[in-house]
Amino acid sequence: MVTEAIIEMHHVFKTYPSQISALSDITLEIFPGEFTFVAGSSGSGKSVFLRILFCAERPTSGEVVVHGMHITQSGFKKIYQLRRRTGIVSPDFKLLRDRTVNENVAFAAEAIGQGRKEAQERASEMLSRVGLEDRENDSILALSAGEQQRVAIARALVNSPPLILADEPTGNLDTQTTFDVMEIFRDLHRKGTTLVLATQDTGLVRHYPNRVIHLSGGKKVDSETI
Ligand SMILES: Nc1ncnc2c1ncn2[C@@H]1O[C@H](COP(=O)(O)OP(=O)(O)OP(=O)(O)O)[C@@H](O)[C@H]1O
Ligand SMILES: [Mg+2]
Repeated sequence: MVTEAIIEMHHVFKTYPSQISALSDITLEIFPGEFTFVAGSSGSGKSVFLRILFCAERPTSGEVVVHGMHITQSGFKKIYQLRRRTGIVSPDFKLLRDRTVNENVAFAAEAIGQGRKEAQERASEMLSRVGLEDRENDSILALSAGEQQRVAIARALVNSPPLILADEPTGNLDTQTTFDVMEIFRDLHRKGTTLVLATQDTGLVRHYPNRVIHLSGGKKVDSETI
């Protein structure tokens, strides 16, 4: 049996009115269970690449298939289905500032139909996983940027999605917490989750030898040419 890709991009271009070509002719497949970095310097197109995958933006042209859904087809109305099967860590998905840490994570579980109590318990589990078990009842505002990032990661994991898309998930974190978070991702990978992580951090990419999609000026380039 041929394994179907979980992500397919066919000749994807994204051009902004300012004529900036953020993505240029990207064609690729990512298969279930892969752990892939999207690497490149600032402005290379990493965030735009991920934003297209979770339907925060549409490409100017090209086709994108995620979880078998043609998300770029006109009239695509299943963003909800796409998102419930995709854990997203991104500055586009801000934490709710007037809620507690647990509420922020539980909210994502309730959004897909979990009861309040199960959602809170599941949120507690995920928060322990990112080392925030003692902060559950604190307001989000009481947490440091790095701690807030860990809440965002717990929120992305709460519904056990088969696919995780994370934009600079370790961007605000110190060395130890970066290591802890990467261990969580590695553990998810071992359990079969597909992960796509965008990062500028070449050290991180070197340290965790996985597949790497290198972007440069919106183009996919071979690692040899870096
Ligand atoms: N909404 C937008 N309008 C106009 N240009 C944009 C928009 N979003 C992104 N761009 C441009 O597209 C290019 C790629 O941006 P992107 O945010 O994907 O870079 P990045 O690789 O994520 O960078 P960083 O590492 O700094 O986060 C940049 O030149 C950026 O200025
Ligand atoms: Mg970015």
